[in-house]
Amino acid sequence: MAPLEFDAAYATLPGNGWLTEDEARLLWDAVPLHSDVVEIGTYHGRSACLLAHRLAHFAGKLFCCDPFFDGHHFTDLGEGVAAYREVRELLGSILPAERFAVLPCRDEELARLIGHRSFGLVYCDGDHSYEATRDTLTAWSQHAFRLAVHDYAEAGGGAEVKRAVEDALPDWHVSRRAGRMIILDRTILQESK
Ligand SMILES: C[S@@+](CC[C@H](N)C(=O)[O-])C[C@H]1O[C@@H](n2cnc3c(N)ncnc32)[C@H](O)[C@@H]1O
Repeated sequence: MAPLEFDAAYATLPGNGWLTEDEARLLWDAVPLHSDVVEIGTYHGRSACLLAHRLAHFAGKLFCCDPFFDGHHFTDLGEGVAAYREVRELLGSILPAERFAVLPCRDEELARLIGHRSFGLVYCDGDHSYEATRDTLTAWSQHAFRLAVHDYAEAGGGAEVKRAVEDALPDWHVSRRAGRMIILDRTILQESK
């Protein structure tokens, strides 16, 4: 299949998820060319499919992780197992098998498996509590050229994510934002004379 442009790709995404069109466009544009991408928190594959469509335009591998089988974030084990199968099938219709991996685990486990590599983009949309977000960002920022974080907001649950971003990433800044999605890049410190 020829790589799809954003509008066509967005129209094909699974509906089960929270990613809005503006947020999806921001994420699409943030993927650095020819780089590998990590997604933390895949759920039913809405953003994973978007990232796969983006990666279809150039070289790069997509690593997705979600504890599909731990029964925590899915209604029951059956939903988690079905989501895992569904996501692999969907990604397989977009990218060749060697260009994606879906791991049924938390991001700490993924880091143990592949964390020694560098990634163009690490997209964090897993556990949105303050502690989990802080720990995830602290760990993965060491391996990322760029970060994307979902569920960032000034109030409500998103404020926990915002606080975690500020505490975990003092050397990064929010370079772009749409809705509850932010893109973070490293802040280049200029030596003062
Ligand atoms: C908001 S949903 C992800 C939505 C998805 N990115 C999309 O666009 O449809 C959050 C998911 O993160 C998963 N999750 C929670 N903690 C995680 C962790 N430590 N590592 C990876 N995934 C995690 C949950 O199981 C849940 O499916």
